[in-house]
Amino acid sequence: MTTYKNHLLIIEDDKRLREVLNKILSSKGLRTETAVHGADGIKKVERDFFDIALIDLKMPGIDGMEVLKKVKTISPGTYVIIMTAYGTIDSAVEAIRNGAFDYITKPFKTAEIMIVLEKALEDRNLRNRIKDLTKQAEQRHKFEGIIGKSKSMQAVFEMIKRVAKTDATVLITGKTGTGKELVAKAIHRGSERKDRAFVVVNSSAITDTLLESELFGYVKGAFTGASRDKKGLFQEAHQGTLFLDEIGEVPASTQVKLLRAIEDRIITPVGGTKGEKVNIRLIAATNHDLQEEVVKGSFRGDLFYRLKVMSIHLPELKERREDIPLLANHFLKEYNIIFGREVHTISKDALNLLLDYDWPGNVRELEHALERGVLVCDSEEICPEQLPLEIQYPEETHIRRAVEEGKSISEVEKKHITLILKKTGGHKEKAASILGIDRRTLYRKLNKYGIEFNKKFPSK
Ligand SMILES: Nc1ncnc2c1ncn2[C@@H]1O[C@H](COP(=O)(O)OP(=O)(O)OP(=O)(O)O)[C@@H](O)[C@H]1O
Ligand SMILES: [Mg+2]
Repeated sequence: MTTYKNHLLIIEDDKRLREVLNKILSSKGLRTETAVHGADGIKKVERDFFDIALIDLKMPGIDGMEVLKKVKTISPGTYVIIMTAYGTIDSAVEAIRNGAFDYITKPFKTAEIMIVLEKALEDRNLRNRIKDLTKQAEQRHKFEGIIGKSKSMQAVFEMIKRVAKTDATVLITGKTGTGKELVAKAIHRGSERKDRAFVVVNSSAITDTLLESELFGYVKGAFTGASRDKKGLFQEAHQGTLFLDEIGEVPASTQVKLLRAIEDRIITPVGGTKGEKVNIRLIAATNHDLQEEVVKGSFRGDLFYRLKVMSIHLPELKERREDIPLLANHFLKEYNIIFGREVHTISKDALNLLLDYDWPGNVRELEHALERGVLVCDSEEICPEQLPLEIQYPEETHIRRAVEEGKSISEVEKKHITLILKKTGGHKEKAASILGIDRRTLYRKLNKYGIEFNKKFPSK
């Protein structure tokens, strides 16, 4: 293994100093090169990468300050150290403003220049280390395109890795938009079947009568219109993965046949008599509470247990709010690319709204909010006004939901008081005045509803 020698460029018009520096610094283990004037130095920087450029400030032709600017434009990663004559501190300060790392006044001793060089290299190493660590952290918070730093999502990543290695049937549960399909694909991609088909069956999109023939295929003459044999999705997924999405929507009659197909891995096309063996890995997903449906009798218990050999549950977004900024920034980047926009940030107020919102549509809803935000934003930053109304005014959603869900007056009152307190940043006097009640009444209600009134609410 050859060890990397730091590459140093000395740009100095004074021949004697140039040669002395070259000799001393190369003897200190640096790979050195020299340039006799500014233009010469710039040419060398264009051709090669230098860790450090040592630039004399006062040179005929292009002066050191201009050389510095050029070097930093061509190669921002190069550390520049300026050499100045005694008494030109002002220009040294200007050099630093222009991107130089440090300066040294002439004449200097070998020990002095060595300290400055070592400081530059140490800074460089530290910055590289930070960059590596940031990258590592980013990688930890992302798995197969699934974003999440929360404990619950990290646990999901671990489960995906574990089940991907096996051929076991997996049941993925979670509310709408939590990423069930994304997880199913990640399992497939992590498995030995990754180069084979990943076939999706969306049980809710296919009518009950068609579902069976879609799943198992049919033979010619099985029903009117069946003019030839047709393969089903089970056969299409042969040697690959079959993803049964919305499994909770499968009607009872099909559930029996599905159970048999899963148990024996043999399928019989509609109207056919001969079974056909298929080699598939099954993944099912649902946003229903299947356990409850089994109890109610609308989903077969035996099928449920066949499916949940392994299970992965995706938590709702409001249960892992720490993932919101990460996801929001991920979608921001993505939609900038898709729409060719330059919206780089989300304002603090807008981010606070995203953090406060309840996200009934989970990650999908957040994705849509950012997609819209990037589209309507006419500056570099997404502001509250560019977010959907229900996110800007969660109060309105709250009233609408209270009506939809049939909430009692006291439930609405509790929520309303909490929201107004939040709006006033926890200021009780102001809150009471907005609510049209006196302070004592407000305190009584806070006690009654157990609202944490000493809590500092972030002001908006
Ligand atoms: N953790 C995540 N990181 C990045 N993108 C995500 C994440 N979770 C979901 N998404 C994105 O959100 C959208 C919805 O995800 P997906 O279709 O997997 O949800 P789902 O659980 O299958 O929802 P539904 O039950 O409504 O079918 C997709 O565009 C997906 O890429
Ligand atoms: Mg889905």
